[in-house]
This record gives sequence, C-alpha cells and structure tokens, in this order.
Amino acid sequence: MLPKDSMANTFLVSIVLCIVCSLLVSTAAVALKPRQERNKVLDQQRNIIAAAGLAEDPRALSSKEVLQLFQQRIERKLVDLQTGQFVEDADEDYDPLKAAKDPQQRVPIDSEFDIGLRFREPKTWVYLVKDEQGELEQIVLPIYGMGLWSVLYGYISVDKDLRTIRGITFYEHGETPGLGGEVENPVWRAKWVGKQIWEEGQPRTDEFLRIGVAKGSPPPQLQPYQVDGLSGATITSRGVSTMLKYWFSSDGFGPFINNLANQQGATDGSSQS
Ligand SMILES: Cc1cc2nc3c(=O)[nH]c(=O)nc-3n(C[C@H](O)[C@H](O)[C@H](O)COP(=O)(O)O)c2cc1C
Repeated sequence: MLPKDSMANTFLVSIVLCIVCSLLVSTAAVALKPRQERNKVLDQQRNIIAAAGLAEDPRALSSKEVLQLFQQRIERKLVDLQTGQFVEDADEDYDPLKAAKDPQQRVPIDSEFDIGLRFREPKTWVYLVKDEQGELEQIVLPIYGMGLWSVLYGYISVDKDLRTIRGITFYEHGETPGLGGEVENPVWRAKWVGKQIWEEGQPRTDEFLRIGVAKGSPPPQLQPYQVDGLSGATITSRGVSTMLKYWFSSDGFGPFINNLANQQGATDGSSQS
C-alpha cells in the first residue's frame, strides 16, 4: 500500500481516474453515435419539409410525423448529375457528401461559378414532393457552397413548373449568428418564395440564369429573380448567390431539370436546353 500523500500515489490515482473517464467518454460516444446519426437524418428531413413548406413549423413535428409525411408525400430518387437521369436500383446507403470527397468517385467542379470547392459528387438524392392526389407538386434539391467561414448546406424547392422557387433552408453552416447566420432567418427565407431561376420566356440555360442574391436590394428588372443581400454579410450572401447559380447550371441540376421539362412536354415552349 502506497502512503496516501506520496507522489507515486498521486500519479496512480490520476492515471486510474484518466482511464476510467476516457472509458466512460468513449463508451458514451460509441453508444450515442447511432442516435446522433438518426437525429442528423431527422433534422435533414425536417429541413426538406421546411423547404417544401409542408408544415408551419417543421421543428415541432415529431419523428413519427416526419416519417409519415415522407411516406405519404415525398419520394427520394438518385440522379446522375451529368446525364440528368434517375439512377435505377440505387444503393440506398449512397452518401453524396462522402462521394464528393472520394478520389474514386468525385467529379471536378469545372465551372465559371466558383462555389469555393473543387469537387462534387457524381450523383445525388433529390426529393419528389407529391400533392394529395399523388401528382408531382415540387422537387427539393440539395445545395451547398462556401460562405465566409464555412460550407453552407441546404435545400431548395422548385415548383413543378421547373422555374419557380417554393422555399429554401440551410441545415448546417458555421457563419456568424446575426450576420451570415441570418440565412436561417424565416423573413429572409420567405423572400425566395416565387423567385424565378431563369429569365422568363427563355430556355433553362446558363446564359439565362438570373437567380441570385443582390448587393443591397435588387434593381426592378432583377426583382423577379433575386432577393436582398444580408446586411453586414456580403460574403455569405455572395456565397449563397454563387451556389444557387452553380447548382442550377448545366454543371449542376440543369440537365436533370431540362430532362424533366422535356418529359412533361412543358407547355411554355422553353423546355429545350
Ligand atoms: C466577428 C465578425 C464576424 C463576421 N461574420 C460574417 C459572416 O458570417 N458573413 C459575412 O459575410 N461577413 C461577416 N463578417 C463581415 C466580413 O468580415 C466583411 O466585412 C463583410 O462581409 C462585408 O460586408 P458589408 O459590405 O455588408 O459590410 C464578419 C465580421 C466580423 C468582424
């Protein structure tokens, strides 16, 4: 038995305490991981519901209600971004963000729209939102790109006319609360509803992309397409603007949206790319 106030005893007690604490922390981390993953997916699903405007306050929905909405109204489909076609027999566990980091799968972002990232995933999940009769009502698309401090991850919903925004949400970012963090502000998010992606009456091509965030307020001719910049957060605002232009471009969801428009036999005469 070591004397209580000896140096050796102090070390022994510290080491035992360290081992016990680290065991407790690592057991908790491993045990809680599945729950954390589930909560992350649930949070993303709530954001998809928010982007589609399917609930007044998606944060108030229970996990059961979220699941029910997904079962009744939302169909997840994998899209090949290059061809714009749905991928048949998709691997349900496919993770686009992991694929964007995997040297075997990732695709270089070779674009005039600099979203601050060099690679993207080859395929991604989109969410087809149906109305009560089971007809396509809107499509929720994942978007991301650099702000000032961080990559912002979100969803944007496009009406079945494949031109009009129905809603936008950001579920993960590291921008400053009150400045760039205002991307989450419901008042700013509401300004996107009804905005047009491409110039009205023109084809859905990069040349006619008009969606974006203005510096200050948009001039009258751009008001159908753009929202006010966030004050004191010019760089975050520019990041959101660039990411939207990129994800709706021919390098992003352009081919997919044009394919859908062609399939629908869009009646506005502007479905060709
Ligand atoms: C502590 C701190 C946090 C900031 N956070 C952001 C931010 O999240 N997003 C952003 O665009 N600018 C942020 N800025 C401001 C930028 O540094 C830059 O000044 C600003 O984007 C210029 O915008 P303005 O022309 O609207 O002033 C922050 C500045 C400081 C000092």
